[in-house]
Amino acid sequence: MNGRIVARAIFETRPAAEGNTAWVDVQVHPQFRRRGLGTALADQLETLATEDHRTSLVVYAVSKAAAGERLRSPTGFGSVPAGNAEVRFLLDRGFRLEQVNRASRLALPLAADIVDGLVEQSQQRASPDYRLHQWSGRTPDRWLDDMALLFTRMSTDAPKADLDVPEDVWTRQRLIEYEDRAETGPKTSVISVVEHRPTARLAGITELGVSAEPDRPVSQNDTIVLKEHRGHRLGMLLKAANIRSLQSTAPGHPSIITFNAEENQHMLEVNEAVGFSAIGYEGAWKKVLAPS
Ligand SMILES: CC(C)(COP(=O)(O)OP(=O)(O)OC[C@H]1O[C@@H](n2cnc3c(N)ncnc32)[C@H](O)[C@@H]1OP(=O)(O)O)[C@@H](O)C(=O)NCCC(=O)NCCS
Repeated sequence: MNGRIVARAIFETRPAAEGNTAWVDVQVHPQFRRRGLGTALADQLETLATEDHRTSLVVYAVSKAAAGERLRSPTGFGSVPAGNAEVRFLLDRGFRLEQVNRASRLALPLAADIVDGLVEQSQQRASPDYRLHQWSGRTPDRWLDDMALLFTRMSTDAPKADLDVPEDVWTRQRLIEYEDRAETGPKTSVISVVEHRPTARLAGITELGVSAEPDRPVSQNDTIVLKEHRGHRLGMLLKAANIRSLQSTAPGHPSIITFNAEENQHMLEVNEAVGFSAIGYEGAWKKVLAPS
């Protein structure tokens, strides 16, 4: 390991988000654990957070399946193995488990008749007021404002337990700058949206993050249907139509991986109907720091 990095810490804040939250992570190479590296890095993160006037630290930590006692989520949905290293580490540092997310996997390809059937069924249930649009990469100009609103609503409308996740405001300009940077990166977005025809505004979106290497899994990113448009099977329509789009524009990937709050029954039901199944769990943890 001469000259190699064996541990790292990540400190993230969102300039456009209100509130005093920072998102943090500590990762130590398995051969270098239990030597105090995690503690040293976590201490450093807390110093940084205090200097930056952050009072709430949020950590997302994957918990490997293990036998034995469980620590239950205060939401009433899900649990993590109480004896796992990350669980002991975070509890010892004063973090509280706030929410459990389910990681699910869909093996690809999904048979064409299944995808077509799901798209058709949901299109029949949604009224003709809704029209599907699809693209890869940059958002077409006409949808920039609507997409900014949908991304903003992701931060307020997805279940967030007691995590103090602040509203994260997206504007047209922020989205343009984000997509400028994304264009130079290694992933492409495959996007499906539904337009509400009477108002000519977008009602929902789903986004898949696709690597250039076909052997890598695809990541399911944001999916949202605005509150006023729920109950029309738009969630299923978006998901199924986007998988169809993925399979025609970027075939060959082994799977799609998605993370959902264990209490997010509507999203989980859609995913299960499409064919996703659980492969693991992730704890969402919070620590409240004294104001500096
Ligand atoms: C969690 C993690 C960062 C800990 O790193 P580390 O360098 O091993 O941590 P430390 O050596 O500083 O351990 C500090 C304390 O955490 C607890 N702890 C850490 N690993 C543990 C284990 N396997 N079992 C029980 N307690 C454990 C202990 O109380 C330990 O103190 P001790 O060794 O004096 O008993 C490391 O296991 C890891 O990288 N896991 C994968 C990434 C992850 O889950 N990150 C999320 C946490 S931010």
